[in-house]
Amino acid sequence: MSPCTARMHYLYRLVLLGVSFACLWFMLSQRFCLSGFCTEHGALRSANDDTINATLGFEKLFVINLPARSDRRDAMTLTGALTGLNFTWSQGVSGGQVPDKDLPVDSIDKTITKGNKGSWRAHMNVLQAILNQNISSALILEDDIDWDIRLKSQLQTVSHATILYLHLLASSLSYQRTITLPASSPPGLSRQKVTYGSNWDVLWLGHCGADFPSASSHLPLHRIQYPDETMPGPSHLRPHPLAGTDDILNVQHPPHHRVVHAAGAGTICTQAYAVSHRGAARLLWKLGLETFTTGFDLMLRDWCGGAYEKDVEGTDRPVCVTVQPPLFVQHYGKGGESDITQPGGGYIDRGKEMSPYLMKSVRLNLGPLVKGEGMEGCRNQWPD
Ligand SMILES: *[C@@H]1O[C@H](CO)[C@@H](O)[C@H](O)[C@H]1NC(C)=O
Ligand SMILES: *[C@@H]1O[C@H](CO)[C@@H](O)[C@H](O)[C@H]1NC(C)=O
Ligand SMILES: *[C@@H]1O[C@H](CO)[C@@H](O)[C@H](O)[C@H]1NC(C)=O
Repeated sequence: MSPCTARMHYLYRLVLLGVSFACLWFMLSQRFCLSGFCTEHGALRSANDDTINATLGFEKLFVINLPARSDRRDAMTLTGALTGLNFTWSQGVSGGQVPDKDLPVDSIDKTITKGNKGSWRAHMNVLQAILNQNISSALILEDDIDWDIRLKSQLQTVSHATILYLHLLASSLSYQRTITLPASSPPGLSRQKVTYGSNWDVLWLGHCGADFPSASSHLPLHRIQYPDETMPGPSHLRPHPLAGTDDILNVQHPPHHRVVHAAGAGTICTQAYAVSHRGAARLLWKLGLETFTTGFDLMLRDWCGGAYEKDVEGTDRPVCVTVQPPLFVQHYGKGGESDITQPGGGYIDRGKEMSPYLMKSVRLNLGPLVKGEGMEGCRNQWPD
């Protein structure tokens, strides 16, 4: 190809992408308007919004819980009930229950804690259940977590942004960019079934920090950002309470904008991640049978980052998507009962009960919610 033809070719693809976006956008807004719900504030609809079902648009919601931790089961049950969620409980596993002969062989000379072994086994059991029951997609939750009372409407936008992100990946266009969804876009699919597109392996919706992929990482660099009133302002987004530096989100994106992008670089903790059927099979193979060297979340990060699939080209690479700030976070009880040693992203104050990144946390508003005071009775943890 002459340079000129190559340039024409590039321009052509650019135009094609533009047109397909415009079409997608038009379709989304039409559907939405036809259904009679043209509101600017769709993202702030009530917690029990029935447009997202009780399993958040996935086939199942699994919660991993050690039988001994009935306190966590109580709290999750209540938090889920108040948000209109339907959980499938999956028994956690303690490290002592996992014989070394059950581990992938490369674990032999590694120092792996008992806690890591138990957690690994618990996650593998869920992946196994997904394949056994032929489940198309499932969200896997840990049991010490929290979310905003507006979770369902938040997820509508995430689904929207994820579909666009996957669309960008599928278009063979190699240039990278940030796309901004307009404020009125969140309710776009509000009367439609929420789906998250196809051809993804992992949607990492709850974590304790994620980096944006660097240009040298071979991860896709596309970002979808959108204004979101349910996310705290810049002063509440710091890597940890004493950090002088701003959170990377503050530096690179406007205030109150959530960003959907590739997971992998620096994404840690698995408070909540969804897997597709394909993702479950790939993960059970790679992290269940082939390799086990460290904590499950670190292996998932590396897997998403392509560390285990270096030899694999393009479409066979794992497709992992995440959102910053996360929608699911660890809940910190009073006095920092958590045994997590390094809290990671978010503003942690161990002196008081809190949930980083969540403005109207369900856990911190159990009182008013149980009394039926609704959204108005709920306290915003992080006012601007
Ligand atoms: C929620 O929607 C998903 C996707 O359509 C579906 O697979 C799942 O069964 C639904 N859950 C419930 C509880 O209806
Ligand atoms: C959850 O879903 C199961 C299976 O569909 C159903 O039997 C159960 O009643 C549901 N629970 C709640 C609280 O909705
Ligand atoms: C699993 O579900 C898919 C559709 O989601 C179907 O095509 C396939 O036949 C099912 N497999 C089994 C073993 O039932």
